[in-house]
Amino acid sequence: MPESLHWRVSQRPTSNYTNGLNRVSDVSNSPPTTEKGQSKRHQKVIQVAPEAPRASTLHAAGVPKLYDPGYASTISCISSITLLDGPSGILRYRGYPIESLATLTSFDEVAYLILYDGLPSRRQLGTFRRTLACHDFASLPSCVSGVLRAFPSHAHPMTILVSCLSALTADIPKLNPSLAGSSVYKTRAARSDAVMSTLAIMPTLAAAIFHHTTDNPLPANTVCSSSSEPLSYTERFFKLALPNASPTFIEALDTILILHADHEQNCSTSAVRHLSSSGVDVFSCLSAGAAALYGPLHGGACEAVVHMLERIGREENVTDFLERVKEKKELLMGFGHRVYKTYDPRARIVHRLAHNVLQHVGSSDPMIRVATALEKAALTDSYFVSRKLYPNVDFYSGIIYKAMGMKPSFFTVLFALGRCVGWLAHWLEYLDDPDRRIARPHQRYTGVIGPLIVPSLDERVDSSNGSEAWDKGNIMARL
Ligand code: SDX
Repeated sequence: MPESLHWRVSQRPTSNYTNGLNRVSDVSNSPPTTEKGQSKRHQKVIQVAPEAPRASTLHAAGVPKLYDPGYASTISCISSITLLDGPSGILRYRGYPIESLATLTSFDEVAYLILYDGLPSRRQLGTFRRTLACHDFASLPSCVSGVLRAFPSHAHPMTILVSCLSALTADIPKLNPSLAGSSVYKTRAARSDAVMSTLAIMPTLAAAIFHHTTDNPLPANTVCSSSSEPLSYTERFFKLALPNASPTFIEALDTILILHADHEQNCSTSAVRHLSSSGVDVFSCLSAGAAALYGPLHGGACEAVVHMLERIGREENVTDFLERVKEKKELLMGFGHRVYKTYDPRARIVHRLAHNVLQHVGSSDPMIRVATALEKAALTDSYFVSRKLYPNVDFYSGIIYKAMGMKPSFFTVLFALGRCVGWLAHWLEYLDDPDRRIARPHQRYTGVIGPLIVPSLDERVDSSNGSEAWDKGNIMARL
């Protein structure tokens, strides 16, 4: 494996730490920078690594533990992979603005940047692509293939992906700390193996799930790589899923994968770090990330948006729908974000892509008109403006996937196809984090203090909790 592809074991996040208590990147003290990187007076300062005293120090000094549902005000780790300035709507991977990466690079280059902290040269990119041994369906690892086929075709694609990622552990036991020893990830070879195995299989696995859940038998003997040039990650997916896809589709998905590659401590990436803290194998961590992404409040929103737009149906129904949202009877899927309190920079790019793709297919899909009308109405409505609710990356992406011929339940698999790079990069970074320790938050207990005396079985009367649900649910009949 070329040196450049090895994760530098000694590499640490590049932010400068001050006294260890307040690990503040020196960027926050540098003169404000513009998107073009030149220092300029009176520009907005990028909000990076706010001063963050260590909670344990505060607690030792008598400050009580803080209750922080959803970790909305908690910094859980130090990272140098992605910069996300929510109030300003700024997103940068390793310092490169997402707008530049989306227009000037390919997903493979961005994957390399996020994983190895540097954009690849032409030579390195070629090596990277060639090293990603291409899996045909026939070469899907046996446990993964067996788990995939065990599912009925009507199973949700994300259910299958979560299980297949976990099954990878059985196919590659040498990367399982429970079998190969807890220090297995200390070597560069194991780390590169984990990264390259995942990136080699994901396009093929996604394509296999696509065929399996659209009742198409897996095409036999599809040759992945063309003779001379190695296929890109996105080309490998389309070669196996939709071999006749147009270059417009391939380019559009490649850009969308760039936009989805990483997003700092989102729910799924922090789930990967959380599981990794227990020392479990990398594929179980990725499976957990995929399970978190599956949720409709997270990556599953791209599927939920399309169902919402279908329910609204026509532009004339937008006003009534937004009234239901304001009455808290609906969520405006694809809107809102824990961090962005302005327009998600990725949503702008996806919106433009949607128009290009629909123009390409010659479709006047009413859905885009409903989505545009919905966005316009919400952005001028004080309910949404006062709550700083703007379109996020999921609002328009489903319209593009639908135009490509994907069904809504498959959309989040495409999100995972991009985000697996971020999951792997954070998994790698956390392995070298000097603060790495098992994640184990506290709780505030509000139950009975006790101690209660245990009555004998005959002394007990019907407990008031649960039994009705059991009787009504007739759970035994369902099992
Ligand atoms: C992704 O974290 C990431 O980086 C995620 C992601 C990534 O790349 O990994 O960007 C990808 O998951 C994008 C988000 C996709 N999800 C959706 O589009 C689902 C719809 N959005 C909401 O469920 C919500 O906005 C969240 C989950 C995204 C954020 O939830 P928060 O931060 O907990 O928001 P909140 O509950 O504090 O909302 C504040 C107010 C509340 O109203 P009030 O109680 O003040 O009256 O805004 C309301 C909320 O009810 N609100 C919404 C809303 N989102 C928030 N009201 C209607 N529709 C919405 N979508």
